[in-house]
Amino acid sequence: MSDTIGVNDMHHVLYHPAFPHASTYNPYWIFEHQMGPNVLWLTEWLVKDMNIKPGMRILDMGCGKSLSSIFLAREFDVEVWANDLWIQADDNWKRIRDAGPDNRIFPIHAEAHNLPFAEEFFDGIISMDSYQYYGTDELYLGYFHKFLKQDGEIGIVVPGFHREINGNIPEYFLRKQKSGGVFWEWDMCSFHTKEWWGNLWNQYPFIDVLSCEKMEDGGYLWLEWEKALEKSDVKKIFPSDVEALEADGNRTVTFIKVIAKRNNVRI
Ligand SMILES: C[S@@+](CC[C@H](N)C(=O)[O-])C[C@H]1O[C@@H](n2cnc3c(N)ncnc32)[C@H](O)[C@@H]1O
Repeated sequence: MSDTIGVNDMHHVLYHPAFPHASTYNPYWIFEHQMGPNVLWLTEWLVKDMNIKPGMRILDMGCGKSLSSIFLAREFDVEVWANDLWIQADDNWKRIRDAGPDNRIFPIHAEAHNLPFAEEFFDGIISMDSYQYYGTDELYLGYFHKFLKQDGEIGIVVPGFHREINGNIPEYFLRKQKSGGVFWEWDMCSFHTKEWWGNLWNQYPFIDVLSCEKMEDGGYLWLEWEKALEKSDVKKIFPSDVEALEADGNRTVTFIKVIAKRNNVRI
């Protein structure tokens, strides 16, 4: 793990009372391998409502640089299949080994529609800030849920909206910020509200939706993350979005969490 600045100082910067477990991780490690808003905060928010027990086989779909997989293996003593597309398995394997519990995390490089797993293999599936890239296709879960055992849970966290904007993108999201970056990217058309996700998932006969909610102050949490990142002296991967998120003031963007259990309906 990188350790260029006093870890204790930085712990203070990324400390969040709602995420006591995530708050114990080296902030430099999180900053260095981030691919979006603090995935450890979001994972802790998700799994507190999921049934995850030691020894379970968990699929972390779209794991990026495997931070959530490492967090799960360490915190819950589970085995994790860390699957991603943009990040190669070799790259993740190195990070997994460097972090420690390498015997319980298996890096896989596979596309979401062509997964190399046996049906009903997993006790649980999580997906952090990734499902919006393929799961807005109404038919996708018809394929994907089959990798889950009956009564196994699938939980996703996606960036989303407090209210549907239907193409009316707030002007401050389209404006160039002082950092040089523009917050809005075309693929954010995949962001939706909890009502949108609930409508979709409640139509699937093969799962029972256990919960579907938004993070009430998600826009502020995202801003808090961006501010911490901006303040840190790590090399920035993306230009800061502090300005756009401050202008939004938690009115539009947030995080959505959906958890469902596979039932006995076979399609
Ligand atoms: C914004 S990144 C988030 C990564 C990680 N979960 C995190 O929060 O740090 C989105 C991830 O989704 C993965 N992804 C997007 N489309 C995918 C697809 N079709 N199949 C598999 N993974 C996909 C990408 O490889 C990428 O790592």
